[in-house]
Amino acid sequence: MPIITAFCSSGTGKTTIMVHLAYYAAIKGISTALIELDNRNSLKACCGLPEPTFTTSNIFAPNFQGDYEFLPLWESTLKGKAQVCPAIREDLMRTEKLLAGESLGVLKLKNILKKYPLPHQLILLDAPGQEGEMSHSAILASDYILLSVEPTPKAMNDAVQFVKILLNYEEKFGVSIPKILGIVVDKYNHEGDKARTILEDLSIIAKRLETNLFSPIRLSKEFLNAYDLGIPIHQHRPGHKAVHDFDVDGNLFKGMKDEKLRSWDRNYYESLPALAKFVVEMIKQHG
Ligand SMILES: Nc1ncnc2c1ncn2[C@@H]1O[C@H](COP(=O)(O)OP(=O)(O)OP(=O)(O)O)[C@@H](O)[C@H]1O
Ligand SMILES: [Mg+2]
Repeated sequence: MPIITAFCSSGTGKTTIMVHLAYYAAIKGISTALIELDNRNSLKACCGLPEPTFTTSNIFAPNFQGDYEFLPLWESTLKGKAQVCPAIREDLMRTEKLLAGESLGVLKLKNILKKYPLPHQLILLDAPGQEGEMSHSAILASDYILLSVEPTPKAMNDAVQFVKILLNYEEKFGVSIPKILGIVVDKYNHEGDKARTILEDLSIIAKRLETNLFSPIRLSKEFLNAYDLGIPIHQHRPGHKAVHDFDVDGNLFKGMKDEKLRSWDRNYYESLPALAKFVVEMIKQHG
């Protein structure tokens, strides 16, 4: 059961990516759990959830004994294959304060998930954008980190800083650091010079880190609309090109005219792995 978290600064698409990854994995038959570690509790809205009774803070409670009570995610479509544990803002803020007062409180989640393993084949942790107890908890509990980057100079700079911080984790917390699964660019617009330059730079960084550069997820207002409706883009606009940014390698570049690609190596960009397809294949191959 690989545990994956996405990390980078706020608004870079972490929740959107996690939610769509959960949807795709579940559709492909992978039992998936999505746990929210962000006190801004975005999952309630973007997953269209009812008022929860069991939330992330219950997992951290002193009397917790592995009695997880997650909510089904989009049950009519996913038939119970994906479940979600949302957070409630005030409760999670209290939990964060308590963790900050404990020595190595940031390892608590890792230990709980080890002591009371979830039955799911894939566990996704939706982490906050700022450094703090919950982002450290998510990173330390994960097997893999996904670096989610918005194609802006600020997000790019944050991603570079984050990699430096991550490389210090081993020394700081005395545990091995999760593997970087790859870098994914969300809100990518090929018309923008900055976005193109950033994608090129990220391809160099990915090679240096010996990790994947995933096929970018395009900027589309349909993500905002789907988010507001509490459903994935797959259900909101099933025929939209962006749907396949998750499951077709190099989808954004397939069929792109040479003049639009400029001097780019078509073979390289068309073969960038699609994130959701990659994760599902990884789970099916390695269990
Ligand atoms: N590819 C996209 N195209 C257009 N809008 C997008 C795209 N991806 C995400 N968004 C929108 O951008 C906003 C921020 O996305 P999201 O909440 O996923 O980011 P986040 O990194 O989880 O943010 P936070 O750090 O605040 O939790 C949301 O309104 C979402 O609908
Ligand atoms: Mg988020």
